[in-house]
Amino acid sequence: MPSQLSPAVVYDPTGGLGSREVAARAPGPGEVEIDVRAAGVCHSDLHIVTGDWPTDRPLVLGHEAAGVVTATGSGVASVRPGDHVVLSWFAPCRRCRKCVAGQAWLCTGTQAVANTLPDGTTPFTGADGEPLWPYLGLGAFTRRLVVPESAAVKVPAELPFGIGALLGCSITTGVGAVVNTAQVRPGESAVVVGTGGVGLSVVMGLRLAGADPIVAVDLSAERLAVARRFGATHTLDGAGTDVAAWCQEHLGGVDYAFEAIGSPRVVETLPAMLTSGGAAVLVGMAATDATGSFNLFDLADQGKRILGCNYGSSIGERDIPRLARLYLAGRLPLDDLIGRTRPLSEAAAAFDDLRSHTGVRTILEP
Ligand SMILES: NC(=O)c1ccc[n+]([C@@H]2O[C@H](COP(=O)([O-])OP(=O)(O)OC[C@H]3O[C@@H](n4cnc5c(N)ncnc54)[C@H](O)[C@@H]3O)[C@@H](O)[C@H]2O)c1
Ligand SMILES: [Zn+2]
Ligand SMILES: [Zn+2]
Repeated sequence: MPSQLSPAVVYDPTGGLGSREVAARAPGPGEVEIDVRAAGVCHSDLHIVTGDWPTDRPLVLGHEAAGVVTATGSGVASVRPGDHVVLSWFAPCRRCRKCVAGQAWLCTGTQAVANTLPDGTTPFTGADGEPLWPYLGLGAFTRRLVVPESAAVKVPAELPFGIGALLGCSITTGVGAVVNTAQVRPGESAVVVGTGGVGLSVVMGLRLAGADPIVAVDLSAERLAVARRFGATHTLDGAGTDVAAWCQEHLGGVDYAFEAIGSPRVVETLPAMLTSGGAAVLVGMAATDATGSFNLFDLADQGKRILGCNYGSSIGERDIPRLARLYLAGRLPLDDLIGRTRPLSEAAAAFDDLRSHTGVRTILEP
């Protein structure tokens, strides 16, 4: 039986962004029902709204969320009703070669990126019984979800839901980019271009790893001030500075250059920021058909590397509880990542916050 209808934020390829009433069916085998308590608004939701990532079907948006388990289907062993969970938007299949090798972030069997549950279905129906599809297998901008067990990661009950929500995407991606993808060592230097929710999490991860210096670049002075609080030793205005020239002149090139925007034009400038042997880390996600060009002689001659970074090369069930514990121990200042908290009915304004770079991360509460 579907649950009662409740409001959801839906992107419809014919009608655009809007509010719709949705119901979710009961959890089947291997599935978990979630009562969503907080959901962050990430640029990966905006990529759908802007058409960077085209969709042919209506999607319930939202993929950075935390909540409480309300029911479980048969065979579910890792969570039970009442558990607090952070949702993973890349629910691994746990069976493919990459999962078996311990590389869940590279899973080839997940259906999350097809915006369905693992069996290709959706749990959501609209007011007229029409299907609505879960963005990244979640669709967290509504109250009630049904997700695969591997998408529900148990966290301590004392973790605030807003922090849990951000652990679902920006924090795990940004800190993971540093500690998992790049494996930055104490004393190595780094630049982070783009300091939204994801880039600020990269800055935090760099401080945690002991990187120095840490150069943050953004167009927003407000965001750069936050970056300083999170550990940036230098901040640069991206509009008025040749960042590569600055890095070469002041630091002899950096060991790591992180891009957390998704701009092909910015990505193309990363290798010139590096010292020999350095690595460019592509954390931002561009439009699906974006391409870029690099000086190939420089890359080969200087042994520079380009690293892709899906979900901070993280294993959700290992890394999300680990980051939650670091926060609870006072080692990660995650409270400062939360900007406004708005009700779900203000989703359009929340997207405006993101577009205008107002505050840091806006949280929606269903
Ligand atoms: N790799 C992953 O698994 C993963 C996970 C989550 C998000 N993402 C992607 O990361 C990117 C960032 O997400 P977000 O939610 O932090 O976005 P955001 O919009 O909150 O932040 C982007 C920041 O980039 C800044 N910026 C824009 N153009 C710039 C320029 N030319 N120079 C310097 N700064 C500039 C903006 O001022 C803003 O602060 C998006 O592309 C998102 O899709 C990737
Ligand atoms: Zn995200
Ligand atoms: Zn897999």
